[in-house]
Amino acid sequence: MCGIIGVTSLSDIQDHILSSLKRLEYRGYDSSGIATISNDKLNFCKSEGKIKNLSDKLINSPIGGSIGIGHTRWATHGNVSEVNAHPHIAGNVAIVHNGIIENFQEIRNRLEAKGRKFLSQTDSEVIAHLFDTYLSDGDIPLEHITMNVLNELEGAYAFVVLLLNYPDTLIAARNASPLAIGEGDGLFSIGSDAIALAGISSRITFLDDGDFAIVKNSSVQIYDFSGEKVTRETKLNSMDPAIISKGNYRHFMEKEIHEQPETISHTISEMYNAKGEMSEKLNEITKNNPNSITFLAAGTSYYAGLIAKYWIESLSKIPVNVEIASEYRYREPFVDPKGLIISISQSGESIDTLMAMRYAKQFGVRSISIVNNIGSTIDREADFSLYTRAGVEIAVASTKAFTAQLIVLLSLAIALAEKNKLSISKIKQIKSNLFKIPGAVAKALNLESKIIEVANTITKCKSCLYLGRGPLYPLSLEGALKLKEISYIHAEGFSAGEMKHGPIALIEEDLPVISLLGNDQHSTKTISNLREALARGAKLIIIADEGSENKIDFAHEILRMPFLHKAITPIICSIPIQMLAYHTAVAKGTDVDQPKNLAKSVTVE
Ligand code: AGP
Repeated sequence: MCGIIGVTSLSDIQDHILSSLKRLEYRGYDSSGIATISNDKLNFCKSEGKIKNLSDKLINSPIGGSIGIGHTRWATHGNVSEVNAHPHIAGNVAIVHNGIIENFQEIRNRLEAKGRKFLSQTDSEVIAHLFDTYLSDGDIPLEHITMNVLNELEGAYAFVVLLLNYPDTLIAARNASPLAIGEGDGLFSIGSDAIALAGISSRITFLDDGDFAIVKNSSVQIYDFSGEKVTRETKLNSMDPAIISKGNYRHFMEKEIHEQPETISHTISEMYNAKGEMSEKLNEITKNNPNSITFLAAGTSYYAGLIAKYWIESLSKIPVNVEIASEYRYREPFVDPKGLIISISQSGESIDTLMAMRYAKQFGVRSISIVNNIGSTIDREADFSLYTRAGVEIAVASTKAFTAQLIVLLSLAIALAEKNKLSISKIKQIKSNLFKIPGAVAKALNLESKIIEVANTITKCKSCLYLGRGPLYPLSLEGALKLKEISYIHAEGFSAGEMKHGPIALIEEDLPVISLLGNDQHSTKTISNLREALARGAKLIIIADEGSENKIDFAHEILRMPFLHKAITPIICSIPIQMLAYHTAVAKGTDVDQPKNLAKSVTVE
């Protein structure tokens, strides 16, 4: 999603803005731009495509200035073009914006009728025109002007305003989209996240929804939606710019896949102490037995929730609903007052998940979040949070955050069952294997060269199917998502048992069918389904537990995974599906870390 940066200082800030924009690249974007005030003028530079295009332009013609704003745009309203790239300028005002102004057409029609000329097709440009209109009305304090503008806007937004007539001042405002203010050595900054502000701001303050701020080069004042002066908690910005480095890897995704033995280990330590006793947090969450659990999530985090449904229902017999967050609040669901709402989100900023959680909270239900980004909006608004300790995830395709979510969710399933004194022997077996997961994941990573060979056989395919049963069914959905988002090969996941009810019609000669086969109660039936696919010409690639049935020598390719316990198999089998997607994308030469049209954290509905 769009990334925002603003800096006000006493020295030149062009390079600070460019390096912040580089750090914001991971969010996904298609154009970028910067505006500053220098020589008593608003200057700007914009470019389609990568930040390098923008920085090449700025090297040739620097715009300088000690105050400025920058933006990476992920197109929503209006195609990808320099005109639609931010900053947008109207008269003496330049703005950068993340979110969607839902009533922009109405505002634009009104302003155009008064003679204002719009240049872009974006919703964002109305913000610049509104500020410029109010500013030209005379000598009104900036906080009143900002409140007038905010009162006109509907939708989700985070924006920063640069004003030619106030050359030491930036205005920042947020509603549902994240925005933070940073304080650094001789400067104040405003950014979409802590990563944008890493290296330039050692202290960071997140604005609350409805807040706006007047940020000068020597002071910051925050106001709430009613215009009251407020203070918000300031924290040290522990984000080190070095974290945002690929090390010796070609891509962040490759690095993040290989970090998993460590990130899983850190997440297990968050859930259990060294004696294997459940953490205080898990204890706290499970102390009141919930009537039901509802997971709210999107994309990969949603698939983690689907896998958890199998674990929790089978181990603790608590009914679980897993909801696609963007659907939830609009269908007026029944919210169980004695239930538990659990939002799962790597970024903690996905607007669909945030809005679904806010909806459920209105009914007074207890809300928990499972987030990777500590201090994110979902983390702050939940009653209680469990953290995945995956570290910063930069690649758009989620890998290490997913397996960390699975660790938290499996630990939660175990804790709930323990509290209910259910599945005692099963739980003993799972727990005795839990601490072995990092080692098994490291072994799975050793299969990389074999996976590269398999990946090379599917790069030319137009489509692939993923099959699984039990908790390996949602993992097949995740496998298909991973492949399509980074290699652009069409892929679908199905429950192996559901194949014969329709999807089998898709099978044709040499269609890759990637099947997940566990050492579990489903294996015989899954093998029958695979034979049905084989009989119709499918090219079978089976990812199987070491302990699963040995009757699969008919497969074209077999990737054998270390086996610990059938409940743990979805965690181990995540590794080959991630590596398969990664190496297919590398072989195809796609932009693995920033796939087309995608954003890391989706902050518009
Ligand atoms: C994962 O590979 C995706 N890019 C995407 O589906 C992601 O999981 C989804 O947008 C949810 O993000 P969140 O976990 O940050 O809320």
